[in-house]
Amino acid sequence: MISLTRHILDQQQLKADGAADLSAIMNGIVSAGKKIVRDLSAAGLTDRLGTTDERNVHGEQVQRMDARANALFVEAFQDSTIVQIVVSEEMDEPFVVAHAEGACPEPVEGSGKFAVFFDPLDGSSNIDVNGSLGSIFSIHRLDPAGNFLKTGCEQVAAGYLLYGTATILVYTCGEGVHQFTLEPESGEFFLSASNIQIPASGKIYSVNEGNRYKWSKNMVKVVDHFQAHDEATGRPYSSRYTGCLVADVHRILLKGGLYLYPGDVQKPEGKLRLMYEAAPLSFVAEQAGGIGSTGVERISTIHPKTPHQCVPLIIGSREDVEAAEQLLIRE
Ligand code: AHG
Ligand code: MN
Ligand code: MN
Repeated sequence: MISLTRHILDQQQLKADGAADLSAIMNGIVSAGKKIVRDLSAAGLTDRLGTTDERNVHGEQVQRMDARANALFVEAFQDSTIVQIVVSEEMDEPFVVAHAEGACPEPVEGSGKFAVFFDPLDGSSNIDVNGSLGSIFSIHRLDPAGNFLKTGCEQVAAGYLLYGTATILVYTCGEGVHQFTLEPESGEFFLSASNIQIPASGKIYSVNEGNRYKWSKNMVKVVDHFQAHDEATGRPYSSRYTGCLVADVHRILLKGGLYLYPGDVQKPEGKLRLMYEAAPLSFVAEQAGGIGSTGVERISTIHPKTPHQCVPLIIGSREDVEAAEQLLIRE
């Protein structure tokens, strides 16, 4: 049984760079994740279901468990000496960690070297109905100027926790994609799949078809393509959509196929967020041999302008995402 901590130290030894730092950050993520699991399992017995009166920066109603999960991630890093900035879907402004010597907006050598980005609870509409949920994380190193808005290619590590029938953690630090399962007795994450590879093509497409009336003509053609009967290419694909990006992308990671959340005529940038949804999941997809795309551009090379910006996302098996891209660029 290989623990997550052991695994990270081994991975980073290969790079001989930042092993202890990455391990410490992952410990914080794991610690918050385990408390989220605990709070979710008792949410129906406590006062944690339902909504707050707040709306987040995206105008979405904040659920109580969204706010709770966000508080747990902030708590995990509020005294960190290596994390300088925490960005979250549920906080309008980045949280700047105040170090022991006082608030320190400028990165100091050996202190506050990283920025972490979170979707603290992904799939919020599943909270009240006991559906799958997740948390997504992305870790960036601050540059000397303190810039924390960097391309997906520059992520130090990224991944997600999936709170399903089992709790799992999937991460990459650029050396493949690895899955860990929470062993409930010990409370430790142990390796359950290493070097995961997405099949080159799959049999599943995952999209909210209720939005069809808002899609571009070419986007309609993409979904029509995967629904069309063609024995040679194994179509039609099956439709699967849980309303939790992490759960849907995890299915695609293991089984192949593609997940799509396109832009539409009114909102060309789509719904999903670059820094804490699309970029970390695209890092995972690429490390597994798949693709993360806007439809016309690789997600990982987008230069972010703001912490909360949205992007269209088409992610999954190489051949399936490429087929979607081809249909999207047609006149
Ligand atoms: P979040 O719960 O973090 O706001 O994310 C919801 C996301 C994602 O999990 C899911 O795939 C998608 O939004 C669902 O949106 P629709 O209800 O519009 O399909
Ligand atoms: Mn989300
Ligand atoms: Mn969320």
